[in-house]
Amino acid sequence: MSPREICAAIQTAEWDAAKLMRQPHDILAESKTDHRDLVTQYDRAVQELLMERLSAALPGARFFCEENDRHDDLQAEHLFIIDPIDGTMNFVRRLNHSAISVAYTRFGRVEAAAVYNPYVDEMFSAVRGEGAFLNGKPIHVDPAPLGETVICFGSAPYNPELTERTFELARRSYLTGLDVRRQGSAALDLCSVAAGRAGAYFELSISLWDYAAGALIVSEAGGQVTRVDGSPLPWTGAKTSVLAAEAGKAAEFLEMAK
Ligand code: IPD
Ligand code: CA
Repeated sequence: MSPREICAAIQTAEWDAAKLMRQPHDILAESKTDHRDLVTQYDRAVQELLMERLSAALPGARFFCEENDRHDDLQAEHLFIIDPIDGTMNFVRRLNHSAISVAYTRFGRVEAAAVYNPYVDEMFSAVRGEGAFLNGKPIHVDPAPLGETVICFGSAPYNPELTERTFELARRSYLTGLDVRRQGSAALDLCSVAAGRAGAYFELSISLWDYAAGALIVSEAGGQVTRVDGSPLPWTGAKTSVLAAEAGKAAEFLEMAK
């Protein structure tokens, strides 16, 4: 299968899995590492369905997933990185802003990705070297200076030691840009940058499944994704900070963050 065919298979699986997310009944939220870090029966069901569909599409593929501790080798020939519900807190609170995020990697490099927001029926997708798309139409990062854009951030809710620094950067972002947003889904924040809706997104600690798909979508839309100090993202499965923006705005952000 080509990366383009795999991208299509991911999107079909996400459309199917999204049916489980719409109008959920009796959401049972359990905490994982702390009171903010939640998992529900829907996260698990969405992940199971995606794994079943993607295994059928690409037999032998490996998985690196948020739920159920399924963390296969990141250098595998065929690997899917899955965040079944990115924005679980939003899902539990019925804020209707969450996404299904899947990246396909070959030997440690993301080749195809799709992020689906079922609440507004928006499918963001990308294949390496072929551009980024929203519901099949090309998308591009915003070329405007940072001061003319809205800046998204995540609060790194599972890392309280980063709270002071996060909100200091958010304060500086607010003073520099038009306004800030904390929307509750890293995957959708990345897609907002890719679609030119937000000028930048930063968060001081997120997991590979939060950003793997969105990062390819941003870079294929003409932006860049690094750590918040401008250095390359790791490929170890460790948590990392993330800064996503068009190159000029990333440079402005790095200057502002000093
Ligand atoms: C979280 C969301 C949130 C971000 C956290 C992520 P989850 O993912 O993307 O916006 O601030 O860092 O972990 O736990 O809902 O899948
Ligand atoms: Ca997530």
